[in-house]
Amino acid sequence: MKTILATGGLGFIGSHTCISLINKGYDVLIVDSLVNSKLNVLSKIKDICSILKIHNKGKIFFEKGDIRDRNWLFQIFEDFKKEGRSIDAVIHFAGLKSVEESILSPLRYWDENLNITLSLLSVMDQFDCKTLVFSSSATIYKTKLNKKIDEDSFTEPINAYGNTKLAIEKILLDLSRNRQSYWRIANLRYFNPVGAHSTSLIGEDPKNKANNIFPIMIKVLEKKLDKLSIFGKDWPTLDGTCVRDYIHVMDLADSHVAALRFLISNDPQVINLNIGTGEGTSVLELVNKFNKVNNCKIPFEFSDRRNGDSPFVVADNSLSLKLLDWKPNMSLEDICKDTWNWFIKKNKN
Ligand SMILES: NC(=O)c1ccc[n+]([C@@H]2O[C@H](COP(=O)([O-])OP(=O)(O)OC[C@H]3O[C@@H](n4cnc5c(N)ncnc54)[C@H](O)[C@@H]3O)[C@@H](O)[C@H]2O)c1
Repeated sequence: MKTILATGGLGFIGSHTCISLINKGYDVLIVDSLVNSKLNVLSKIKDICSILKIHNKGKIFFEKGDIRDRNWLFQIFEDFKKEGRSIDAVIHFAGLKSVEESILSPLRYWDENLNITLSLLSVMDQFDCKTLVFSSSATIYKTKLNKKIDEDSFTEPINAYGNTKLAIEKILLDLSRNRQSYWRIANLRYFNPVGAHSTSLIGEDPKNKANNIFPIMIKVLEKKLDKLSIFGKDWPTLDGTCVRDYIHVMDLADSHVAALRFLISNDPQVINLNIGTGEGTSVLELVNKFNKVNNCKIPFEFSDRRNGDSPFVVADNSLSLKLLDWKPNMSLEDICKDTWNWFIKKNKN
């Protein structure tokens, strides 16, 4: 196995994963429409590979376009084949990811997330490329107070974004029902990906409105926002704020390589895996930790609970720890420090 197609590979999680893949000797072909990422991330990935002296381990290719365009995607697979190469597996990051936006524009979310995936799967099928790691999400689960979520937990998304993720998982399950089809699929259900690369060259830098907590904290530090809003202080948790499972994006990136290795060394199957640390941190604890580690002060205010929020979303990650050659290594301090360093570097340039 040599060349991995990374859909949405210039985005937050995709860009970090490309570096992990190159480090392990894979060639990477990124396809991205840049709807929520910037082209300069490509040169930053290359710079990081040079800094880490891993640039000779794997090649990197890039094609700009919308994956919903099946003919265009077909041609990319075809051109690779004509050059005597093949695309051996796909990591599918591309999609829209904002819960809030998906509530306002559900049709856009269904169109993008489903049609990107259908286009991708049909082209993969035509080229007999049947190994796929899919970026799923913990938002598909029905949560229970103070109970960690395992992969068998009930699924019940409460917004269009989560529904598209679950619908895609169902399509992927349908593919595997034909035992002669030999699909190998891992649905990685991410918890809360945060942090930035330790070189401070890439981090979470969405083109669209920031919805995740760290990009919002950065906007406050950049004085583009007055305060961080903490939604609800009366949740049934220790300090009244929501508890989440924050995982460093570099740990998350490595889990994709481990999932690929698992798929190719095992029988065809569809497997669901939680990718989190298994540790819960409240929003207030996170803000306090960020302030302490970076000697700063993020102004915040409490506002009303957000529709559809859950008080406690923490992974039972034991299946991933058991099956994958992987475990999260980075601490909450690393997350805060790396985000801060990335913010400082970004604002210097
Ligand atoms: N970041 C999170 O908190 C989180 C949590 C759970 C799951 N996920 C999922 O992980 C994946 C990656 O998330 P991310 O945080 O890196 O998001 P991101 O927005 O940074 O990256 C997604 C990339 O996909 C590209 N893209 C979108 N539509 C496209 C299209 N039609 N054709 C080609 N490219 C397209 C965007 O330009 C972007 O570069 C997404 O599928 C997301 O739903 C993210």
